[in-house]
Amino acid sequence: MIEQFNTTHCGLLVYAPAKINLFLLITGKRPDGFHELETLMTKIDWYDELLFEPGKTDGIELVCRGPHWAPDGEDNLVWRACVLLLEKAGRSTPLRITLTKNIPAGTGLGSASSDCAAALLGLNRFAELNQPADVLHDIAAQLGSDIAFFLYGPAALCSGRGEKIRPPAENFAFDALVLTPNISVPTKSVYGKYRHDPASYERFFEQIKPLLGKKSIDSLAKICANMLETSCFELYPKLAELKNRCEAYCGRKVCLSGSGSAMFILNPDRQRLPQLQSWLKNEFNCESRCVHNNSW
Ligand code: C5P
Repeated sequence: MIEQFNTTHCGLLVYAPAKINLFLLITGKRPDGFHELETLMTKIDWYDELLFEPGKTDGIELVCRGPHWAPDGEDNLVWRACVLLLEKAGRSTPLRITLTKNIPAGTGLGSASSDCAAALLGLNRFAELNQPADVLHDIAAQLGSDIAFFLYGPAALCSGRGEKIRPPAENFAFDALVLTPNISVPTKSVYGKYRHDPASYERFFEQIKPLLGKKSIDSLAKICANMLETSCFELYPKLAELKNRCEAYCGRKVCLSGSGSAMFILNPDRQRLPQLQSWLKNEFNCESRCVHNNSW
């Protein structure tokens, strides 16, 4: 099993896991333009990596590498989180951070948010800043809605904008096949297109409420509730086609994670996985990956 923090010969290697939303409900739109959520997020064992090393020059040097792109410098939440945390601690430690981007961004798997949370946790350790959890939480909530979740784990019921965290009554163990279509979805556009339907919220809530205190992953999988799905699919009809055809092909629910584009199949039929993965690649040029729930 992977540990989140690993000391290397001159630095600290920190793993930043992706997440999926086992359900995502929207209770309404807020006066500040954000949406009020009720979502169950759970980390999975697919990781970006952040390596903290002493810097050679003043300030923070951020180097991004790996199979997926991420911005260098201040456009990256990692950089902004480190600046805010150092400011809060009254320190100006020269730092070199290498971010290995294994998880594609714009997929609803939360990788940029997870990188940001891992930066807060990692820098706090690496530079011995001794900042308490509430300081990290405040910086996380200031930088984005689902960053705070990644400071805790491995699963949480998140409400408010996403930054209010409660552990679930039960932890959910699962395997999943995560589909990553080659489409990057801007979260803001999906929320922008969202039209609230209180009746649909009530319907989902009534189905989900009795399951929350139980180990009921298969029942949650059948409900497959994500109230952002309609607006995401309106913007990207190819994703709707992928979901519909994949469900018909494998006979399981295919659920959207966050605002998309990634989707997941919970506890898929393992024997049929190689066949399903080739089909996804051949029909949709869609990569997929088997994951488990993460344990921290
Ligand atoms: O907070 P974050 O930067 O992740 O949000 C990106 C965008 O998604 C926001 O600018 C907002 O338009 C939308 N959003 C929302 N309600 C939420 C979370 C995000 O409307 N609870």
